[in-house]
Amino acid sequence: LSGGALKSRVNREKFEGGHQQTLSLPVKLKSLANLLVVGWDIKGKELFEELAAFRKLGHTIYEEARRGRTGKVALAGDLFADLNDSALCALWEGVMLGAYRFERYKRSSSSGKFTGISELKIVSGLKVPAAKMKECDSFCRATLLARDLINLPAADCTPTTLRDLALSIARKGKLKCTVFDRSKLKKMGAGGLLGVAQGSEEPPYLLKLVYRPAREPKKVVALVGKGVTFDSGGLSIKPAGGMETMKCDMSGAAAVLSAMQAVAELKPEVEVRAYVPTTENMINGLAMRPGDVLRAMSGKTIEVLNTDAEGRLILADALHMAGQDKADVIIDLATLTGACVVAMGDTYAALFASDDGLARDLQAASVVAGERLWRMPLAPEYRELIKSSVADIKNTGGRSGGAITAALFLQEFVDTKKTHWAHLDIAGPAFLDSDRGHLRKGGTGFGVRTLLRYLMSL
Ligand code: BES
Ligand code: MN
Ligand code: ZN
Repeated sequence: LSGGALKSRVNREKFEGGHQQTLSLPVKLKSLANLLVVGWDIKGKELFEELAAFRKLGHTIYEEARRGRTGKVALAGDLFADLNDSALCALWEGVMLGAYRFERYKRSSSSGKFTGISELKIVSGLKVPAAKMKECDSFCRATLLARDLINLPAADCTPTTLRDLALSIARKGKLKCTVFDRSKLKKMGAGGLLGVAQGSEEPPYLLKLVYRPAREPKKVVALVGKGVTFDSGGLSIKPAGGMETMKCDMSGAAAVLSAMQAVAELKPEVEVRAYVPTTENMINGLAMRPGDVLRAMSGKTIEVLNTDAEGRLILADALHMAGQDKADVIIDLATLTGACVVAMGDTYAALFASDDGLARDLQAASVVAGERLWRMPLAPEYRELIKSSVADIKNTGGRSGGAITAALFLQEFVDTKKTHWAHLDIAGPAFLDSDRGHLRKGGTGFGVRTLLRYLMSL
């Protein structure tokens, strides 16, 4: 198809070439093919938007291939002549992440015989850097693993399932894995995690994975992920609507475990440790009661006024353990508060940080990863809202500033004089109620690629 012929075809179709406007033309080359023309105009756009456009393009390409039932795609045009690594990876993310469907419980696949894009050629002579593509591929597979874990019904993704996954990631990636079970947790005094687990028949665990680089590391980063495999609210039970999606309450754990899979593959120069406290939040005759007082691993006592504020209870122990092991940086991810969803919606996660440098580094990583973070304050003015009259601290601070008081609660279990700490409340973006481009309905794997970008930049 010559330039002139193409031009007249395009003109006939009234295609104006506006940014990301598409035109699909069947053409006859050596064999029958489909030509997808895409308008492009990213002048003046910020990096986040520019990369988002590449992700969207990748997803569009995937959808077109799927429609045409072909796995072979060639890219041509100036745009592809000198793509930088992050744009190329964003494009590939659009393809890989947009292709995701969770169909484990369906008898037939919605894609029929189409098995995905098997060949993606860049015609314009760009040499695709193999190492960078390997990195991008690891990022994507880790994200997809996290999505699968989140989308699994709670009956099929229990704390024991996460334990077995941690063991298998460790085996495949040659990481060290330690499983702290109920009896070990009792000995260590992990009263927060054990308190939440009291009302469940499923045994709780604190999982620890360690990656050590070949050379003596300059830095040790600890990742902590909330692993509540189902959050019924406990005795402070949730209304039916609020409980529907609560299999997603282990999204922080899913992100951290999946990131460890990629860490084992990509071997960054820093030491990375993962801590995942995991349990259900259920109700039986032994369930913790509002008013009960728990003693956390750090020795602090906690008055539990609302059993639905369980995430902070299990994170208290995991954060303390990460601190005891002496990490330079601790980053926790948790679907922690509904208040955060109210404040931020389902695109932005809240970032709380004890240190401006760490906040900046995470923000920078999140821009390349295409995940929105917005900083919120660890407001000292609100500390008094979680003071208890009977214990050292209480687990709720009232409705107003709910995401902040939750973060302040966590801060009580981190020694921010010794460790740089960041907390990501991912309650909004972890789980979507409808498809959104390369993000699909259900678990998104939010956080995985921000963590990995951050770790690879150190
Ligand atoms: N897992 C929830 C938070 C959540 C809400 C995650 C919506 C994802 C979507 C958490 O354990 C919770 O129930 N938090 C309570 C805290 C309150 C009782 C202080 C909340 O946000 O209502
Ligand atoms: Mn809860
Ligand atoms: Zn929860």
